Amino acid sequence: PIPVITIDGPTASGKGTVAQRVAQHLGFHYLDSGALYRLTALSVMRRANGNPIPLDDEHALAKAAEHLHCHFSGAHIFLANEDVSNDIRAEAVGNLASKIAAIPTVRQALYGLQLSFRQHPGLVADGRDMGTVIFPHAGLKVFLTASVEARALRRYKQLIDKGFSANMEDLSKDLTERDARDSNRSSAPLKAAEGAYLLDTSAMTADQAVAQVLEWYAA
Ligand code: C5P
Repeated sequence: PIPVITIDGPTASGKGTVAQRVAQHLGFHYLDSGALYRLTALSVMRRANGNPIPLDDEHALAKAAEHLHCHFSGAHIFLANEDVSNDIRAEAVGNLASKIAAIPTVRQALYGLQLSFRQHPGLVADGRDMGTVIFPHAGLKVFLTASVEARALRRYKQLIDKGFSANMEDLSKDLTERDARDSNRSSAPLKAAEGAYLLDTSAMTADQAVAQVLEWYAA
């Protein structure tokens, strides 16, 4: 069987960076499952054309997820052939993503697409439910955590790097709200998978976290 490593954790826990580097090191494919929820959110926002987004129209949201015209090329993410790699990182997009991610039919609509990333020679998948729902039989499951302060600071740096404006207070509030929403929803809540290794990265560099994951994988 094709090996899978799952890396789950809360917003800005460092899972994206760690997962990408582990994938690169092993020559595996990489799935950024959060990007699929963000792409769905962005496509809904764009279609709404300034009108309020119908969060109660689950059918329309699931359809948007199901008919997502996206592709991934290296670090670039495309929606209908437009490079939206930066656009999907905006906080507004992340917030809407976390709201629509609570809808079971949206999650179902993205299920098959996520499975299709499992290809030779292997996959590193990051998200909230990679180890619990999408790849429950993964050979290695990791749950990354970090303090709210450490995560807010990371998100702050990321946003500033991408040319967005940001402030720490709003970000901490935002992270805390999003964590609560992701952890308390009934469909695929954020939690460590059975058998997952826990890694608190608050005081770790990305390289240290990557080294730990690779050590677990080799063991
Ligand atoms: O990881 P990222 O911040 O890009 O994810 C955006 C949102 O998508 C999360 O807040 C979460 O609600 C949702 N998500 C999810 N399941 C995943 C990945 C992301 O529900 N596997």
